[in-house]
Order: sequence, then C-alpha cells, then structure tokens
Amino acid sequence: DAELSLLYHGLLLPKATHSQESLDYMQKLTFKDDDVVGVTYPKSGTTWIQEILPPLLHGGDLTEVKTIPNWDRVPWMEETRAPLVMDKIPSPRAMVSHMPYQLMPPSFFTSKAKVIYVARNPKDVLVSSFHFHKMASFLDEPGTFEEFTDKFLAGKVLFGKWTDHVKSWRNADLGERILHVTYEEMILDLRGVLKRMLNFLGRQLTTEALDSVVNHCSFKNMKTNNMSNYSLVPEEIMDFKKSSFLRKGISGDWKNHFSPELDEKFTATIQEELKDSNIKFLWDD
Ligand code: PPS
Repeated sequence: DAELSLLYHGLLLPKATHSQESLDYMQKLTFKDDDVVGVTYPKSGTTWIQEILPPLLHGGDLTEVKTIPNWDRVPWMEETRAPLVMDKIPSPRAMVSHMPYQLMPPSFFTSKAKVIYVARNPKDVLVSSFHFHKMASFLDEPGTFEEFTDKFLAGKVLFGKWTDHVKSWRNADLGERILHVTYEEMILDLRGVLKRMLNFLGRQLTTEALDSVVNHCSFKNMKTNNMSNYSLVPEEIMDFKKSSFLRKGISGDWKNHFSPELDEKFTATIQEELKDSNIKFLWDD
C-alpha cells in the first residue's frame, strides 16, 4: 500500500518509522570502529539484540535496559529516531538495522564496525510478521495467512525477500567483523550465544554479571520490562488485544499455522532460492 510504505532502492519500508530524511541521514552516518550493529530481517530477534548489546558492551550494567526504551537505547540506524538519539548513546555504541548488506552506508565499509547478524527460521518469521501486521495500525492488513505467505515468498513485504536479505549478509565480505547467530540457538542456549558474542566483541563479564544478563534477557522478563515490551506505544498504534509485540517467543510456532500443502510450497521455494548459497541452518533437517 503506497500510503503506508515508501520505496527505497526497490525495498518497501514503513513510512511510520522511515522517511527520505532518515534514509539520507543513515547514508551519511560516520561509523566509529567500536560501533556494533545488530542486523536482522524483521521479526528475527531485533528487540532481543536491543536488550543484549548494552549490558554486553557496558560491563554487564543493566541500567540502560531498565530505563531507556529499546528504540532510543539501541536505535535503528535507518529510522526517524536515529538523528535524534545517535549522538547521545555512549560508546561503544550499539545500533540495529534491517538493511540488506548492499545498502549499508559508505562509512560502514571503511570502518572496523562489527555486525552481529541474527537469522531466524523463515517460517517463524512469517508467523511473527503476520501477527504483527494484524496488531500494528501503521502496517497493511495481512489478509489470510495463505495470502500473506504468497506476498512473503514474492518479496512483496517490508524489507523485501527473506532469502535476499540472508544471502546478502551471508556473502558479506567482512572477515572477522561479522558474527552469525540464529534465533533458535539463542532459544536453546542463550548463555552460550552470549559468550560467543562477548568473545567476538573482545569483552569479558564475570560469571555473575553474565548470569544476570542471561536472566534479564529471558522472554519472561522482557515481557514485563516496559522499556522493551512496547507498552509505551499507544493502543491506536499497536492493538495489544490482537497480539502482544513479544508474542510467544518460541521456535516452531509455524507448525500451528502451516497446512502440509503450504509447508511444501514454502519449503520448496526457500530451498530453491538458497540452493547455490551453501547456507545451512539449524532448522534444516
Ligand atoms: S521487529 O519488529 O523486527 O523489531 O521484531 P523482532 O524484535 O525482530 O522480532 C520479534 C520476535 O522476537 C521475539 N522475541 C523473543 N523471543 C524469545 N526470547 C526473547 N527474549 C525475545 N525477545 C523478542 C518476539 O516474541 C517476536 O517473536 P514471536 O514469534 O512473534 O513471539
């Protein structure tokens, strides 16, 4: 819908949170070598990363995650809030982005800024996105689940095709500057993933500090953290009677939404598009 989204290099972006000015701002951003960007296709774990990065980067301190809304604490570099808060966040800075690799700003490529890319099973991404489109008044009505699946597979959704996004970052020529993790690994072993992140970031936490970050970042605790559960957003914008933002927080909810026929079509399309990419995920059998 042209009313609710704008087109940026062929990608649909929500107008509620993006503008030509914010995208220009992003392209002119000056990255610092100690910046860390959490990159995701939408509904893959962005909010989780916004909870995890500040304490990992700032000695286990949970003050930021308890006092600053996620969108100002770890801003999306492409969104309209970015110009207002980017210069106020303490270094090392953490930010997030839904951009594909090729649309990263020029200064990112010449800096040593690091990226943590979180991928999630696209079937669960689709389910999460479907419920989000129902509850958010600034997004198009998704239609039936089957209709929304067709749009998703055709890439006629916000930020384009899931496979394009994942492939762009999997093929990124960033050497030691990128760490790939999955939502499913975080569900299975958050502590282990946080240790990998610390190692990648060249940082350490005491066992007690790491324990308290793991505990703070559990789904249960994030659901009750008003700085992270989107309860600060007015009901006209997000209708929490239809769905929570932090909805289920599990892997495999797709099984409650996909018919066997839809699963077959979905899997065949994704597999075909990934076949030359040697991308293998935890959820592949
Ligand atoms: S967005 O709109 O792109 O910023 O959404 P994003 O945060 O990427 O994705 C939202 C989904 O992530 C789930 N989530 C979590 N799952 C498990 N544990 C924790 N701590 C957690 N935090 C966020 C959230 O519940 C959404 O998934 P669904 O499947 O809809 O529950």
